[in-house]
Parts: sequence; C-alpha cells; structure tokens
Amino acid sequence: MHSLSSTFRGGLALLAALLFSMTGAAHAATSTDAIMLPQARFATGDNVAWRDPDFDDSGWKVINTTQYYEAQGYDGYDGYSWYRIHVTIPSTLKASSDWPERLRIYLSAIDDTDESYFNGVRIGKTGSMPSDPQGYESRWETPRDYAVDLRAGVVRWDRDNVIAVRVYDGGGGGGFYKDMPYLAIPQRVDGLLFDADLAHHHFLANGRVQTTLNVRNRYPVVQRGVLHVEVRDLVTGRVLLTRQRALVIAPEKSVSSQWTFPARPGIQASYRFVDARSGRVATATHDLPYRLTPPDAPTPTLHGARLLGARPGTPLYYRIAATGRAPLHFEAQGLPEGLTLNADSGVIMGTTPAAGSYPVQLRVRNALGNATREWTLVAGEQLALTPPMGWNSWNAYGLNVSDTLVRKAAQVFIDKGLAAKGWNAINIDDGWEAAARRTDGAIMSNARFPDMKALGDFLHERGLRFGIYSSPGATTCGGYLGSLGHELQDAASYASWGVDYLKYDLCSYSAKMSKSPSLEEHQKPYRLMGQALRNQARSIVFSLCQYGEQQVWTWGASVGGSAWRMTGDIVDNWNSLLETGFSQAPYTGFVAPGRWNDPDMLVLGQVGWGDALHPSRLTPDEQYSHISLWSLLAAPLLLGNDLPSLDEFTLGLLTNHDVIAINQDALGKAAQRVLNRDGWQVWVKDLEGGAKAVGVFNMGASLRSTQVESSLFGRERRFRLRDAWRQQDMGARSDSIAATVPAHGVMLFVVQ
Ligand code: GAL
Repeated sequence: MHSLSSTFRGGLALLAALLFSMTGAAHAATSTDAIMLPQARFATGDNVAWRDPDFDDSGWKVINTTQYYEAQGYDGYDGYSWYRIHVTIPSTLKASSDWPERLRIYLSAIDDTDESYFNGVRIGKTGSMPSDPQGYESRWETPRDYAVDLRAGVVRWDRDNVIAVRVYDGGGGGGFYKDMPYLAIPQRVDGLLFDADLAHHHFLANGRVQTTLNVRNRYPVVQRGVLHVEVRDLVTGRVLLTRQRALVIAPEKSVSSQWTFPARPGIQASYRFVDARSGRVATATHDLPYRLTPPDAPTPTLHGARLLGARPGTPLYYRIAATGRAPLHFEAQGLPEGLTLNADSGVIMGTTPAAGSYPVQLRVRNALGNATREWTLVAGEQLALTPPMGWNSWNAYGLNVSDTLVRKAAQVFIDKGLAAKGWNAINIDDGWEAAARRTDGAIMSNARFPDMKALGDFLHERGLRFGIYSSPGATTCGGYLGSLGHELQDAASYASWGVDYLKYDLCSYSAKMSKSPSLEEHQKPYRLMGQALRNQARSIVFSLCQYGEQQVWTWGASVGGSAWRMTGDIVDNWNSLLETGFSQAPYTGFVAPGRWNDPDMLVLGQVGWGDALHPSRLTPDEQYSHISLWSLLAAPLLLGNDLPSLDEFTLGLLTNHDVIAINQDALGKAAQRVLNRDGWQVWVKDLEGGAKAVGVFNMGASLRSTQVESSLFGRERRFRLRDAWRQQDMGARSDSIAATVPAHGVMLFVVQ
C-alpha cells in the first residue's frame, strides 16, 4: 500500500480518502460510504456483447477481484477475458455526500490492460490491446480510477448495475490482483490534491529550501474553504510555522503557494483544508526535501571506479571522472599502447591491449592545483568489474523512447556533472525496434532511431557506453520484435552499431518453455545469446532480465551474464523498494565483481514509463534510502529518470561521490543485513582496505533514534566514523553509532 503522503502526492487522493473513511480518521465519511466489490463473474475470450448490462452471465464462474485469475482455476491463461461485476447501488448513497454528482469506480489495478464499461457505457481504458492500432502496451501497475457522472442517468438506483471489464493479459499473472475495487460517491473535498511539486524546489544559500505547494482541484466544482499549514521540526518537536489562508479554487484549477523551510532531515509540513460549506476536511503531510551532498570543491578531484575490465583487442572508451573548476586538463601515465587520452575532455579511447593488468596513474589539473589517482585497466574476459552505472530509458519514457531523448540524456550526463562522478552508460530499453526485419533477417531500428551506428558514435565520442535491449522471445515485453531465431545475427548487428551492453528480457520466451521448465531449458536462450555476444569483437556486457527465476544469481555468470534482475519491475513507491531492494538480504553473498544482483533501476527524479512524467512518489527520505541501499547492495546503478528536467534535490542524490564510491568499491561485495528488528535495518558492506559502509535504515513510519552497536559491524576497539552523505568526518568512536533517522530514511556511514 502506498504511504499516505505519497498517495496524496501521487494523485490517488480518493483512494487515500477511502482509507481515511474506512479507518474513521480525519474524515467525516464512514465506511458505509463505499461499496466494496469483492467478486465478479468471469469468462475467457472476447465478445462485445459482454459489455451489455442485461447479458445473461449466470453461467459464468464467480471469482475474487483481489487475486489473479490464474490462481482461481485459469492457470497459464493469457489473452482476452471479461469480468462482470454486479452491484446494487442504494439511492441512499447520495445522501452520504455533500456533492452527489459523480460515482467513483475504483478498479484497483489490472494485469495488463483493460477497457471498462458501466451499464454498457464506457468509463475508461488503461494500456492498449493487441487489437488497437498502436498495438499492445501493458499498464499492469496503474490504478484504474474511473468515474460516472451521476447527472447522466446511467445508474440504476436500488437495482442491479453491471461493471463490465474487458481485459487483455500479455503474460504472467492476469486480471485483477491487488487491493479491493469499490464504488463511492466522493465528497467535494476529495477532489483536492496536495502536490508538493518536488520538481520545483530551490535550495537557498541560507540553508533553507523554497518549495511550492499546489492545491489542485480535480472536480468541476468550486472549492471554497480555509487551508491550514503547520510546519514541524520532528527532531525537536517544535512547530516552526503555522499559517492559514482562505482559498477559492475554480473548477479543475489549482492554487499554489511558495514556502521556505529549513533544508534538513525531519522537517514536515501538514496541510488541512476545511470546506466552508460542509466543514469536511482534506489533509496531507509532506516530508520536505533537503540536500546533504556538499557542493564540489573547485580544486581538481578524481572520482569513479578504480577498475575497468575489457576484452583484449576490443574497442575501449572511458571518460575519466573528475570535478574542479574548468578548464580541467588530464594526463594518464602508463597508458598501454593502443590507447590515447584527450587531455581536454579526459576521454580515453583505442583498443584494449593483450590480457593483463595495467595500472595507470591518472592526473587532473586546473588553475588551483592537481590530483592523481591510480586506475587499473584489467584486460581479460571479465567485464563489469564494478557495478554498471548509467541511465536507461524505460522508467522515464517507456516505449516512447527516441534517438533525440537518448542524446539529450547523454548531454545532461556531461553538462550537469554526472559523468564527472562516474555515470558512464546510456542504455536504450524496449521500443527502438522496427516492426519487421530486413529481407535478409537483420533487425532494424524504427523511425525514432534513424541511425543506430551514428548514435553509438555520438556516445563513444563523449566517452560513454551504449546499451540496448532485446528479448529471447519472438516479441519483447512491449510487443516489439525480439531475437528468437536471429540471435547470432542480432548480436552482430549490435556490434556493428557499437553496442557495449545488452539487457535481454525473457518476456514472450516464457511461452516457448514448458510449464515448469528445467534449469537447462530456462538457461538455453541466455547461453545462446551470451555466446553470440562473446563472438563479437567488442566488450559487450550481458545483463539478464528474467525477474530472478530459477535462482539466476547462482548461474547467471555461467551463461555469460554480468548482472541479472532479481525481481519484477520496480515502481516509485516504498512498497516496491521493500519488494526489490530490501528483499535482497538472502542473496547478497553471491555478489562479486562481474556478478551483480540487480534489484532493478532507480526511480528517482521525474519518472513516468512513457505516460506523463511525474516526480518520484518516494518521499525525500525514501529516495535517500533507495540510493543508499542500492550502493550498499553493489547493485547496478541505472537511472530511470527524465534527465533534462533533473532538479536540485535529485542531482544531489546522484552526485555524492562518497556514496557512489561505496557502490563502485573494487572489492565488489554486497552488504549483509546484520540487523532487522524493531523497525530498524542495518546493512554492512565490506570495502577495499578493510573499511566498512554501514547503512542504518528506519523502516518505521515516524522519526526515531537508535544506537548501533559496533559489534554489528565488526569493530571492537575505537573506529573512525564518516557520514557519507554529508562527506563529513565525525571523529573517533568506541562502542556505538547514534542515529536519528526520519521515517523510511537512512544514515549512511563509513567506518575505518
Ligand atoms: C519488462 C522489464 C522492464 C522493461 C520492460 C520493457 O519486462 O522488466 O525493465 O525492460 O520489460 O518492455
């Protein structure tokens, strides 16, 4: 379930309002206001007549609406199906609302796409089906929040009504599966959304942050009332500010106010709008953004991984990661023959030398001084010696990715200083493939990618790596062409375009396997592509995406993989972080250089999966936890956001070189969870040279304090402590670390 604040921020206010009403808290409505819809009649197949309210479905099977149909007698079924939900709506329901003009029909989430009707009238559609002109596009995670205008006269009061839902499932679980669908007549204030607009904050020089609160009215009715704002420092318990403001918000418009707050952990704003006519209230709380990452020093500093693995004789591109006041000049002592360095850009290019280890002394200088650091090129078969680190198009653009968007992302890497911290790969996910192969069977890119080779060159010139996506199946998860039967040819095409990384996504290949495939059967397509990639004269990192099936962490490397997804897809809420990142504890012992467990891409910044972009629905503290945990896990760090709209808060999260160094540490170990008790989790990662990174996560819903005993991270005597996010030495300690951590937040330390 979404946390309350993110629910409000994310546009699901009505769901939140219902939760309020069900728990009786902070809302005048009562549980009788919602009519739950626990069951439906169900049939596989597709027939337009099934939308008709009077269709006789008495012979259909009754199933639950909170569990996949596979689990209810339709095992293995993919394709079209219909749900018909019968509901009697009492006319007394109207009296429960101060604005009885619309009926909310909340259909929870549907795997993968739906088109829904109320008494035969279409009320909404989410995703698209194979029969649609644009083809199939899954939206399994999106809430279906539909409505009927009561004035249109479609409701049959005190009689049977039918919600008919046409579903298409493209694979895996199908149909309704999540929280329970319901009907309700909302109150007027339920149309209000409190949107903290995380994208439009601004950190001020005086340690404060300016944020914008938008109070958005989603209903075609005037909202009139008083907004009460209270800002509290949760660490001291002090109220920092209280304000009241009379608001009149026109139908479907919003009103915004700007506020400035101290930019530090534990500052929370509470909003309460009281409707002038009914006295009903809408509330929300927001944890406010703060920035811990200090600004970069003007003096030159080198960052990034200390190791690079590449196969002998293959092309190499590497951009030295460094900060400092421009212009910077680079030198590299001991660079093997065949490689050259551009002294102005810091890009090393050429051909990887014969197998061996080549220590190189990197140097960067500017008007203020210089810095040096050892970097080792390891020529051999092992790639991805440190976790892959870059950007992938999926979480931002979904299937709408294009050459233009990819180039823009690359440019932001350079212009905003991400490349300067080691972010080095730009990966296209699904959606680049043309609808048909060339007559000789070669895969082609679609019109949004006019020239893949030129795109590869563009990235390489900037010292960035080029990643691409495919599936071992006939089609990808997005319904584009996969590699089935063309594996060798596709690997060769990728190589000719200059590809350095392939994400290979199981998708429709699962239909090619038996119901309970043997390990060998499951590995086969990955082994085939792994070999095809190795046959190319390039160093192509192979990333397996099969959602952690068949204990992939135990065999991924044996089929040529360097990283493997451990779970289903991540989304931008706390629950999803629990299911992806925090679920990794049992598997971290398998992680080693070139063997990375991948809990999926990051959901920081503006994300959207091809729909409208929105700021990540994770709270600021959850975002600190997200990147801290991924760093501790030595997980691939793949940004999933729209980079041109990168905001200051997100930039701070992504450019902290102390935090990145934990992820990119050359030892290549993942953290172990050493404590999971009382709503606290402590994860400890061994670092090169004997240091340890310690993450202290508050899993609870309020700010709390704790003491972390030094025995948990293996220190018996005095140890030196550094706060990684603040990049601050905290001196020596002897027995424990004290941490005060906001809800779902983290403190990340390095102990020496
Ligand atoms: C999913 C995969 C996502 C994305 C998508 C593309 O199966 O887990 O990360 O690649 O397919 O269609």
